[in-house]
Amino acid sequence: MTIRRLPDALVNKIAAGEVIERPASAVKELVENALDAGARAVAVDLRDGGAALVRVADDGHGISAAELPLALERHATSKLAHDEDLDAIATLGFRGEALAAICAVSRFTVTSRARAAASGLRLGGEGGVVSQQLDVPTEVGTTVEVHDLFFNTPARLKFLKAATTELSASLRTVTQLALAHPTVQFRVTNGGRAALTAPAAADLRQRIGALWTWSTAERLLAVEHVEHGVRIAGWASPPDVTRGGRDDIVIIVNGRPVRDPALLQAVLAAYRPLLPRDRFPLVVLAVTMAPADVDVNVHPTKAWVRFRQPRVVQEMLVSALHAALRRPGVVPALGGEANAPTVAMESAGAPISDAGAGASGQAALFHEPVAPYQAARFGRVLGQVQDTFIVATTEDEVFFLDQHVVHERVVFEQVRAQLAAGALPSQALLFPETLELGPAARALLERWREPLERLGFAFEGFGGDSIVLRAVPTLLKGDEPKRLVEGAVEELADPKVTAPTIDRALAFVACRAAVKASTPLALEEMQRLVADLETTETPYFCPHGRPIVSRVSMHDIRRELKRTW
Ligand SMILES: Nc1ncnc2c1ncn2[C@@H]1O[C@H](COP(=O)(O)OP(=O)(O)OP(=O)(O)O)[C@@H](O)[C@H]1O
Ligand SMILES: [Mg+2]
Repeated sequence: MTIRRLPDALVNKIAAGEVIERPASAVKELVENALDAGARAVAVDLRDGGAALVRVADDGHGISAAELPLALERHATSKLAHDEDLDAIATLGFRGEALAAICAVSRFTVTSRARAAASGLRLGGEGGVVSQQLDVPTEVGTTVEVHDLFFNTPARLKFLKAATTELSASLRTVTQLALAHPTVQFRVTNGGRAALTAPAAADLRQRIGALWTWSTAERLLAVEHVEHGVRIAGWASPPDVTRGGRDDIVIIVNGRPVRDPALLQAVLAAYRPLLPRDRFPLVVLAVTMAPADVDVNVHPTKAWVRFRQPRVVQEMLVSALHAALRRPGVVPALGGEANAPTVAMESAGAPISDAGAGASGQAALFHEPVAPYQAARFGRVLGQVQDTFIVATTEDEVFFLDQHVVHERVVFEQVRAQLAAGALPSQALLFPETLELGPAARALLERWREPLERLGFAFEGFGGDSIVLRAVPTLLKGDEPKRLVEGAVEELADPKVTAPTIDRALAFVACRAAVKASTPLALEEMQRLVADLETTETPYFCPHGRPIVSRVSMHDIRRELKRTW
């Protein structure tokens, strides 16, 4: 066996196999080069979905005539000057591979005029060999034409799919880059016909409007979260705006659309309780962080990245989405039919003259549900599983609701509404309890005293040797008082709970007051619970952030059971 050094042309062809998989890869590399060159407008023209021609023209800073031949060589780049630059990459390209790879497997021309130059230079050739060189009058910027991609790599050529499939792949690529760079103008044509048009936008939402329609953009929820030097900002769909696939979940890291399975899972996890299994959200999130905290040099297509602290980014993303999704009014309101009779009953039954605002507010809060089941979001209650989950169904879905968490959410919102009108009713203890607490627990209780007392607890003797419990919220009068305080200390000592807030104390009270798992319920009790849940602002998460509902779509069930109707 003889070992031989491979000729350059063959080396380039092999390397090209990794970087350029299909026309969309060439589109991606060329558009990235345009963006790195500071282009304000990028035009992509395709023929046969890119198999016959990919042409990318930009108005960026261009390449000087002296440097143009070098740009086509492997390992030639203007983007890395020193070793350490590789540790903090701020451009989309950095390896000096893309142009060489594209030229190695096509018939190409590259035309460029640098900003300072009077005219441009065009290099042309095929299979990586330059055979023509021409001075040409042209605008400042760069145009790369790639004809007959893979003409000299028949194995790869065979794997090209139908022109429409290749076109969609290119459109997906450009869409993602256009979302990552909203202020740049993008235009794609195929066979001379416009396939994508995105004028320079003022911001991301405008860009989403141009790409995904204005009516969709209007419905999206703003997402914004800054922590640990990382910023997550973008737009996410409410649960009633969905797609059948994951294509419209776009995650951008420092201007680069990335494929990161863990971040994708984080997005799906944030939506899980809100969507049936076969529906997906629309999400565009731009993650911005110090370039040194993310390694982009991990995959030939540069679509994968590695974070220095992946968990931090994943958790931030989930909480950023949760914050957006839990905003009041996000989840679609109940159908008009369900509410109409209630309104009619109230206005007929309560003369306006002697019913104060407080009284009618209270009545609305605890009103008996009027025909809530037909138009209800969770449909008809069927029964209980394992004395813990309530099963309900609509035409389209089956829901499993965790009864404890359902009740927690209901109590939480009812009590919060009551609090807005004043302190909660309190039950004085017949025999005040002296609490035996360690110093840490005493300090914690003192910190939380104010919110706990607003909820109906009454303490005495802070600063002395022992704290005395004089009253508990009426809602919790069935609980053993001492155990109640121990429970509060335990839960509020959780390191994730930082500053004392009324909502956090309230979440504790709601949890204690709520019906427990493994408790048999009568059908009417379950119906009442689910009807109450539907009137809450956030029927999908408990006050601690745990999901309330698991859902299965009938569509999935039919498919699995091979039912044709
Ligand atoms: N559209 C363009 N406008 C201006 N300069 C360009 C353009 N395209 C390429 N260049 C120049 O040519 C060089 C080589 O481009 P190429 O895409 O091969 O490598 P790269 O972008 O540096 O790295 P990568 O292989 O990761 O894309 C670039 O570093 C840049 O200086
Ligand atoms: Mg490049």
